[in-house]
Order: sequence, then structure tokens, then C-alpha cells
Amino acid sequence: PRPVIHDCDPGVDDAVALLLALHSPELGLLAVTTTHGNVALHDTTRNALELLAFSGRSDIPVYAGAETPLVRQPVYAPEIHGRGGLGGVTLPEVSAEPGALHAALALLELADRHPELTVCATGPVTNLALAERLRPGFPAGLREVVVMGGSLEVGAPKLGNVTPHAEFNAYADPHALRVVLESGAKVTLFGLNLTRQVRVTRERLAHLHALRTPAATLCADMMTGYLDLIEKRDQKIGALHDPCTVAYLIRPELFRLEAARVHVNIDEGEYAGMTIREDGPPNVQLATWADEDSVYRLLAERLG
Ligand code: BDR
Ligand code: CA
Repeated sequence: PRPVIHDCDPGVDDAVALLLALHSPELGLLAVTTTHGNVALHDTTRNALELLAFSGRSDIPVYAGAETPLVRQPVYAPEIHGRGGLGGVTLPEVSAEPGALHAALALLELADRHPELTVCATGPVTNLALAERLRPGFPAGLREVVVMGGSLEVGAPKLGNVTPHAEFNAYADPHALRVVLESGAKVTLFGLNLTRQVRVTRERLAHLHALRTPAATLCADMMTGYLDLIEKRDQKIGALHDPCTVAYLIRPELFRLEAARVHVNIDEGEYAGMTIREDGPPNVQLATWADEDSVYRLLAERLG
């Protein structure tokens, strides 16, 4: 299996991405590293530990990372993910604790031991940026860094989900995203322009429920809470953002990518955290299209 670290802020869709990774023999999950993001670090870390215990995989270590972004103040999204971060679902409490290493150090150490390491980042990328600052060549030495972040809908009136112009992960730590984009890493970028193609619908939730396995039921319960919260807001698009990154690692042929140069705005104000496509040497493989039905079917098959 391909060695992978999941760096995340669970988060309903992060949790679904993690469940998909845990049920996919193609991937060897070495560790879960956590960050501030949808909820505070303390909660994302607890959620990761509880999700692993729920899946019978407490052997996979969790390393807690950045409590705050590099420069800005933290922003959270409990209005989308619920107060605890899992769409109102409460998992059985666990006594397990995160490992002693900071996530950034765990990334460096695991990269030393696994030369073909892939990092799948589905939250603000503060941990990757910290690891880069500690060891500048680190991201470029990874096999691939798959990131959910940004939004590249050129010309669309509404680009963002947290502001009209910015996507949440990019907005939550734009400086870190810039460090990663400029690190020379082989970044594959899944922005809202891609992830909004893979929707969470009531029909899909009913289908998942009908599968009756613990993982599919948990996934459906969390996403029902998430969709209820989203539908209360004006956005109305429930998307499987983070699971797209894991689906891509399992079945890359379900996505179309193109080389692109992406810049992230680190200035404060109306355009904070906005990602922009520029001319110049490519710094990412930008995901532009998903075979939506097949991505959903993959998730349902694996969790079922
Ligand atoms: C991203 O922001 C978070 O709320 C989700 O977990 C996803 O990673 C979507 O913009
Ligand atoms: Ca996330």
C-alpha cells in the first residue's frame, strides 16, 4: 500500500475522507496529524482519536499540530460542522492520547522513514508549512502533497465559501498555503471548483443509511447534520470536499488534472485568502473535473 499521512481538521468531510482511507487497502495510513480548522485543535484531535477507535484502528498514531495559523487569528466553522465538529454526532469517548511529537515533527520523522510518503491535507496547511520552515527541502522530497483548498472558478460570481472570494482552508491560513505552493512540492490541488462537483444529496444519504454498516451509518449521520446546517445557510451546496482527495489517491482516473500556477493572496481585507490562477511556471496539478457518480460509488462501496 501507498504510505500516506492524513493531515486534517475533522470536520465532517475530513472524517468521511479518513473513513474512506481506512477502508482502502491501496493506502497505508501511517499517522493522522491534526490542525486547527473547522473546530479548535483540541476538538479536531479528539475527533481523530475517536474516529480511529470507532474503526478499530487505534494502532494508527495521532499527532496534534498547530493550534493557530502562522500569522492570522484562527477561524472556525462550527456553523457548518456542528459544535464538536462531527455534524452533531458524538462518538464513544476514548482514553487514547495523541503522540508526544508535534505534527510538524512527526511529518519530518515519518518522511525520513518512508521515502515515498504522500501527505493528504484536508485542513489549513499550517503543519506542512511549519515542517517546511524547519526543513526547507521537506515538501519537495515527498512523493505528492494532495491538498483540499482554494477555489479557482474563474469568472464565476461566487468563488468562496467563507467569504465571497475565499475558500475556508485557504482563508484559515493563507500564509501556510503560500509556503506550500512555493515549496517546490508536487502539489495536487482540489479547490471548490472541483469538490462542488461531488455533492452530498438526501438520496445519497438514504443510500448510505441503507447499507447498514457501522462506517456507512456514521458517515450518513454526520453528513445529515452537515447538510441540515448547510441548508440553513444561503450556500445550499453540500459537497464531499475532503473525500475527493482520498478518492483521487485510490482511483486517480476518476479526476482530470491540469498543470497550473496558483497564487494565494495573503493581504487582509476583502480578498484575504483568495486563490488566483496566474501565468508562469506551474506549481500545482489542479483538479478540474471529477466523475461524480464514480467517486460517490467508490465511497459507498468501501464504507458498505
Ligand atoms: C473545506 O473547509 C472545511 O470546512 C472542509 O472540511 C473542507 O476541508 C472546504 O472549504
Ligand atoms: Ca477539512
